[in-house]
Amino acid sequence: MGFRWGIIGFGWVARDHAAPGIEAAGGMLAAVADPDPAARAAAEALGARAFPSPDALLAARCCDALYVATPNHLHRAAVEAAAAAGLPVLCEKPMAATLADAEAMAQAVRRAGTPYGTAFDQRHHPAHEAMRAMIREGRIGTPVAVRIVYACWLGPGWCADNWRADPARAGGGALMDLAPHGLDLAQFLLDDGIADIAALKQSRVQDYAVDDGAMLVARLAGGALASLHVAYNHPEHLPRRRLEVLGTGGLLLAEDTMGQVAGGRLFHDGAPVPFADGDPFARQMAAFQRFVTTGQGEFSLERDVATARWLHAANAAPLPVRAAA
Ligand SMILES: NC(=O)c1ccc[n+]([C@@H]2O[C@H](COP(=O)([O-])OP(=O)(O)OC[C@H]3O[C@@H](n4cnc5c(N)ncnc54)[C@H](O)[C@@H]3O)[C@@H](O)[C@H]2O)c1
Repeated sequence: MGFRWGIIGFGWVARDHAAPGIEAAGGMLAAVADPDPAARAAAEALGARAFPSPDALLAARCCDALYVATPNHLHRAAVEAAAAAGLPVLCEKPMAATLADAEAMAQAVRRAGTPYGTAFDQRHHPAHEAMRAMIREGRIGTPVAVRIVYACWLGPGWCADNWRADPARAGGGALMDLAPHGLDLAQFLLDDGIADIAALKQSRVQDYAVDDGAMLVARLAGGALASLHVAYNHPEHLPRRRLEVLGTGGLLLAEDTMGQVAGGRLFHDGAPVPFADGDPFARQMAAFQRFVTTGQGEFSLERDVATARWLHAANAAPLPVRAAA
């Protein structure tokens, strides 16, 4: 029998990316918990058992690990329940809607001593791994700055229940949703931790109670700077996924690599750099399976809580009142 996954929250990212990723990683989708009957029917169509609540799934004792992909405000309850049941858990980003929830989750996992990872799938994109290797080899000299644009268009009616526009359930807007990836990637690429952060938010285009854009700047412990432009107000047909690492000896540029899927382009001083094919979600699920079964891998609860602290510090920036059109 393959590695048995349970999924709490079988919505967009779980169905479109995690479930195929589990299959590609040689794992098995054993069970799903979701209050939505349509989500449960989708899980059953894949051969999984389906439960209306996380408690019911946990009581069935049919999983080796859980993947949590509920709206952000429900991550805490799911992770605490998993820890209490002694189950490893891979939890979607952001770790939680509030810092208090993230700290409580970390405490529950520490107490249980169970494996934990935040689902930073972009660490597992082969282009990003290639960039990290080149930086480690000194191919761009001393890294000076990471410059990220990660943006999309998310209107108020993006889906029937647009929890991303609800401050209580999301914990914030574009910053809370999109900045976790860049904050984690900057640290991953430079093998360094964040030492300071500042942010400004905007409420420019979208008519909802969360920010529709933000710019963040972070300084890493070694002295490099990282800038992140994240947005829900960015037309989708314009270039909107760009990752640069500038060093004293060169520039790495990745286009359309940030996201959930394989592909994109990588350049070193303008010259194309080939990189391996590979789906970031499938590679992430395989890596977490390995982490659970062998203890080997770069998942770290303490690193992820530290990132959550910087994320929530940035998210404390005030939301300006939207200017009249
Ligand atoms: N890593 C990535 O690239 C990535 C991409 C998209 C979303 N995410 C994260 O994944 C999470 C889910 O996002 P989504 O876009 O799939 O949302 P979604 O709204 O499409 O899916 C959420 C699912 O959770 C279910 N749910 C609600 N309450 C529940 C409960 N009490 N127990 C179990 N299930 C419950 C809903 O019915 C729904 O099916 C969020 O935290 C989001 O930030 C990460």
